[in-house]
Amino acid sequence: MVLEDNWLHSSVWKQGIFAGKVVFVTGGAGTICKDQTEAMIRLGADAAIVGRNQQKTDVAAEELRKVRNGAKVVSCPNVDVRDVHSIAEAVRKTVGELGRIDFVIAGAAGNFLADFNHLSSNAFKSVVDIDLLGSFNTVKACFDQLRSNRGAVLFVSATLHYYGVPFQIHVGAAKAGVDALSNALAVELGPLGIRVNALAPGPIANTEGIRRLAGKNKTLGSSIPIGRLGTTTDIANSTVYLFSSAAAYVTGTVQVVDGGNWHMGYRKGEYPVKILEMNQEKVTKL
Ligand code: HXC
Repeated sequence: MVLEDNWLHSSVWKQGIFAGKVVFVTGGAGTICKDQTEAMIRLGADAAIVGRNQQKTDVAAEELRKVRNGAKVVSCPNVDVRDVHSIAEAVRKTVGELGRIDFVIAGAAGNFLADFNHLSSNAFKSVVDIDLLGSFNTVKACFDQLRSNRGAVLFVSATLHYYGVPFQIHVGAAKAGVDALSNALAVELGPLGIRVNALAPGPIANTEGIRRLAGKNKTLGSSIPIGRLGTTTDIANSTVYLFSSAAAYVTGTVQVVDGGNWHMGYRKGEYPVKILEMNQEKVTKL
């Protein structure tokens, strides 16, 4: 439970707006997606948490059950989004236990810092497969439910492909694909009443991503136009908006939630790694 204690009472959101709805979340045990899910549950939704790791997924589901009296949260562990059949099994379990799926958050992602020289072909493929193919597979497996319930999809993207970001070649390429997938699906599925959007978080405090990307850089927040790192509450708020009826006419968009950060571009020295030296090393592995 990471949203501020008074979030529900101080926020603009109305209790119960997602009552009777079910959100299906891949990567749901990770910091960002777990808080997106928490917000949906607090506002009335039930949820399915889908993840690769059994313990992490079960623990996240157990914690999320406690955020609202009567909340139903199904744990779907041992699901690799690269395998559409394993997601389909999670969909069957969710519909069996919760009756339906209305909202999908495709948040499962892989990331590590690697310069081009040390990024193997298989490493590039692994991240593209998790982020891009995994996003496709998630919507594929949920499609019947989305069509029946005139549901909505939210992809978790990034801003890394808006400009050149070193050590993120694989992720930038994958997320560019996710944005393209989102736009095309919005156009194709709009006539079925299904809305499709992407959310692109910038640097978000207390996440695995920021720990890996920014390391010990403590000044990153002050160089962002809004003057601070983002919070998972910022992401949760945008998620609620995009799934709510307030966004009934919003589809095919990428909602950037980054305090204006991407407009600043890549600042030399932003990441604690040495570009030139890393790429000069002799590496034989492809
Ligand atoms: C270089 C690496 C590497 C690293 C793995 N590889 N880590 N290469 N530097 N640090 C290579 C491996 O050597 C291998 O290539 C290939 O990647 C596949 O690795 P596996 O471990 O076999 O694959 P897999 O188990 O599928 O793991 C996928 C993974 C892993 C992406 C590599 O890190 C993972 O599962 N991560 C999931 C959790 C995660 O990353 N969460 C962070 C999300 S944060 P070879 O050639 O040796 O076979 C996020 C925020 C972004 O996305 C924020 C942006 C602002």
